[in-house]
Amino acid sequence: MDRPDRDDPIPGTTGARVDTSVPNVARMYDYYLGGAANFAVDREAAERALAVTPEIGRFARMNREFLGRVVRYLCERGIDQFLDLGSGVPTVGNVHEIAHQHDPRARIAYVDHESVAVAHARALLVDEPDVSVTQADIRRPAEVLAAPGVAGLLDLSRPVAVLAVAILHFVPDSDEPDRILRTYCDACPPGSFVALSHASMTTMTKSEAHRGQDVYRSTPTPLVVRSRDEIAALLDGCELVEPGLAPINHWPSDTGESPANGYGAVGELR
Ligand SMILES: C[S@@+](CC[C@H](N)C(=O)[O-])C[C@H]1O[C@@H](n2cnc3c(N)ncnc32)[C@H](O)[C@@H]1O
Repeated sequence: MDRPDRDDPIPGTTGARVDTSVPNVARMYDYYLGGAANFAVDREAAERALAVTPEIGRFARMNREFLGRVVRYLCERGIDQFLDLGSGVPTVGNVHEIAHQHDPRARIAYVDHESVAVAHARALLVDEPDVSVTQADIRRPAEVLAAPGVAGLLDLSRPVAVLAVAILHFVPDSDEPDRILRTYCDACPPGSFVALSHASMTTMTKSEAHRGQDVYRSTPTPLVVRSRDEIAALLDGCELVEPGLAPINHWPSDTGESPANGYGAVGELR
């Protein structure tokens, strides 16, 4: 995608502007997954990240597959409402496509703050009455939960799945990711679920992780790599379904392949 004009407003968004001189994590992730919703600055940053931390590309692909397995699992558990936080640029295996294979009336509220991701999602979803796209910062749960695309679509008196997939590693400790996630979960009734994935180190060395993080420091949302224990703490109070917190490519079962550098889990809210 070529957009020579810096700071152009993007049609289909709330008027937020896109700075094409600064790499963005939504568009870098799109590049890792083979998408076209990225600019030269994103591709350059993504290539720099891949050069120092090749595992990042593998994490992206495995994370997307984890998301698909999780949504299918939740559908089988009877969930027909999804709040997808940091939903990203639409790509293969979007949450609404998977959910609608199980239940064509499933409702999906996508939330992302990135203008290109939001514009692409809105363009794709123009004919989908049970799917909304809200441009918002997930660090403000009260605003997100009150937004028309969320409050007007999801019935929070019935079970919901809160998806926090590959998003909380863009939320620094100072913003209290645990409190943010808990606020969303507390808004959902018993019988709801939360699903999380998060970058970590399994096979990657600290120095590889630091070199990758250096690249992400040039984006507006630097990457926070947390330990397994720190990620587990984000899910405190949730009853994790089997197998608990596992490398994303070993959820729900160990494939025998080398673990991805990120953990994932699904928790039930009681
Ligand atoms: C790596 S992508 C994950 C996309 C999708 N959840 C998945 O797992 O395939 C992370 C997304 O989170 C979004 N994001 C990061 N920080 C955010 C924030 N504070 N509020 C809303 N979206 C955010 C980015 O714009 C990006 O689209």
